[in-house]
Amino acid sequence: MQAGPQAMTLSERADALEEHMMHELEHIVTKSVLFNLADGKVEMEGGAALMAKNPGKYMLMGADPRLPKMPDKPTLIDYFKCRFASTAHLLQSATHALKAGHSEKVVLACLLHDVAVVSFIRCDHGYWGAQMIEPYVDEEVSWAVRAHQALRFFPDESAGYAYPDMYVKYFGPDYQPEPYIVEEYKRARNHRHYMTARLICVNDIYSFDPNAKVNLDDFVDIIGRNFKQPKEGLGLDNSPSAHMWRTMLWPTRFL
Ligand SMILES: [Fe+2]
Ligand SMILES: [Fe+2]
Repeated sequence: MQAGPQAMTLSERADALEEHMMHELEHIVTKSVLFNLADGKVEMEGGAALMAKNPGKYMLMGADPRLPKMPDKPTLIDYFKCRFASTAHLLQSATHALKAGHSEKVVLACLLHDVAVVSFIRCDHGYWGAQMIEPYVDEEVSWAVRAHQALRFFPDESAGYAYPDMYVKYFGPDYQPEPYIVEEYKRARNHRHYMTARLICVNDIYSFDPNAKVNLDDFVDIIGRNFKQPKEGLGLDNSPSAHMWRTMLWPTRFL
């Protein structure tokens, strides 16, 4: 006997709704294993099972119609507008750096420092974010984005950075970074771009201000001068990280 709606748990109902929505779509939309891992399941649906459940349909091999439509040749700005789940934190940090009179490279590093968190994945976001932008920015910018992952756990009072109170609240007073983060920090301390990464931490806004006036338009020129937009479109070029942008473009493509 099938369980009626009342007998279903909230998550079963969410699954049923999702399955219903999938049937409404013209193509079969699939979830990568990572999406299931985030739900606490080490699972994937194989191609044959999906085809059997969706007679007469083909796998989605392009844009997901449920997501905002991206232009044929997307720019970083298009990703900001159509793929980043939230831009307030990035814009606030970059605005802070701009007002403090820092260089365009520092401002861009602040603008992109958590790009992975808002668009892709949280775990090791500094590493992911750096890799995403590396082919398109000066080495100083991507190096700093990578290093902020480690530096933010270590105070540098001389640069005006104390361990954030928010981290005590988020992770508890006893939280210790993993050994690889400690090692990364030690290496970063002696690097020539140390201060750029440190300035990301200094300008990182740890308390979100809903009233702060921030605007992506303030950064269009800085992006234009410092982010090498590929002519084919970001993600449709052949850079070493283009596939990461394509994955954001088409996150539910079957292969
Ligand atoms: Fe961060
Ligand atoms: Fe941040």
